[in-house]
Amino acid sequence: MTQVKLYPSILAADVGHLYDACVRVEQSGADAVHIDLMDGAFVPNMSFSPAVVAMARKAVTIPLNVHLMMMRPDQYVDAFCDAGASSLLVHIEPEYDHAETLKRIRDKGVKAGIVLNPSTELSAIEKVLPLVDEVLFMTVFPGFGGQSFLSEPLERIQALRAQCPELDISVDGGLNRETCKICFDHGANVFDIGSSMFKPDDMGEEVRVMRELLV
Ligand code: DX5
Ligand code: ZN
Repeated sequence: MTQVKLYPSILAADVGHLYDACVRVEQSGADAVHIDLMDGAFVPNMSFSPAVVAMARKAVTIPLNVHLMMMRPDQYVDAFCDAGASSLLVHIEPEYDHAETLKRIRDKGVKAGIVLNPSTELSAIEKVLPLVDEVLFMTVFPGFGGQSFLSEPLERIQALRAQCPELDISVDGGLNRETCKICFDHGANVFDIGSSMFKPDDMGEEVRVMRELLV
């Protein structure tokens, strides 16, 4: 049985107060800070940099779960690992040497994860599955916070859970109490949550409610 883990995404935080946002995540009792990196090429938006990961590393002691939405994440492995990432997640869709990149992440002592867009088939990650600690299913097309949940990955989550009972299976995008529960019921155990964690005044209360719900 895997453990339920809640990772609030600071993409939904006020960019003028990112340090405080990381502290707020830690004080809420959440399990890690989810940090979204966008290169303006793989996705039509830009967000943070290795410097933001380094800032977060100073702000909190909980793990930093770093999601690279980039065409060439392989070129930034050292930068993000050295900045203090605890896990580094890369997408399967762009062309680069996925296996070599995942191995290099692990060689740095950082957990490696592979990410699938909502329309990407499970067969795409078959070869790299032995090289990862986490598989992340996007439940929106990445690039922006605040989008509506897409149910397309649910069957794939269920299939992967049947195959890998102990693996961290994550979901990201459009998550709230209701959609988290749906993903949980299909086998997900890690939840990257932006808007619906940062909107409520009391993130700690939201974390408590989610934990009661996801059983
Ligand atoms: C989407 C990002 C998400 C984002 C989720 O491109 O990868 O992590 O922060 O935000 P919400 O929860 O608002 O959909
Ligand atoms: Zn993300």
